[in-house]
Amino acid sequence: MRLHVVDHPLVAHKLSTLRDERTDSPTFRRLTDELVTLLAYEATRDVRTDTVEVTTPVAVTQGTRLSYPRPLVVPILRAGLGMLDGMTRLLPTAEVGFLGMVRNEETLEASTYATRMPDDLSGRQIYVLDPMLATGGTLVAAIRMLLDRGATDVTAVVLLAAPEGVAVMERELAGRPVTVVTAAVDQRLNEHGYIVPGLGDAGDRLYG
Ligand code: PRP
Repeated sequence: MRLHVVDHPLVAHKLSTLRDERTDSPTFRRLTDELVTLLAYEATRDVRTDTVEVTTPVAVTQGTRLSYPRPLVVPILRAGLGMLDGMTRLLPTAEVGFLGMVRNEETLEASTYATRMPDDLSGRQIYVLDPMLATGGTLVAAIRMLLDRGATDVTAVVLLAAPEGVAVMERELAGRPVTVVTAAVDQRLNEHGYIVPGLGDAGDRLYG
């Protein structure tokens, strides 16, 4: 597994406003959308492309087009939905699959309540969207399922990560073709499984 922390002043600025408890829900949604677009720019650096011929008004030249099969974007409901538009703005031809997962607030164990995506993901390049990588339980389970279906390249785009969650991903997905792209790795998890300093509960701040 590879970790990429995006170091950019615009990313840092938007993330700081997201963290602020005074940021209201409409602003939180808009900033999430903008931040995802910046992270998506970095996350798609290795998106597969083909060379094509393009005829300009002046000459014929070589151009680039996203390859087929198309990338698959998978937001993890509920909070990952707030990241979908920002991602598909940069990958408008992507197919979208849905994964509903929830973390038990007591045990912190993740469980899946909805899956809507192709059974066969052989050879597919996949972008998973989830704002928070806390204990890592949700993303490990989600990515294992995608790899079991044949995905060959999975990139998780997250707004914030905890070092504990990153360590779990590194241990559980060692040697697998997985990249995590995030705006920041915070200090730690607290006793309730929240990222510190974090930004609170992303699902509640987006949709609560
Ligand atoms: C949150 C968050 C991640 C998960 C992270 O979702 O959006 O999916 O917890 O935690 P983990 O790394 O410890 O597994 P939540 O279960 O609150 O569901 P929601 O998106 O519906 O609010």
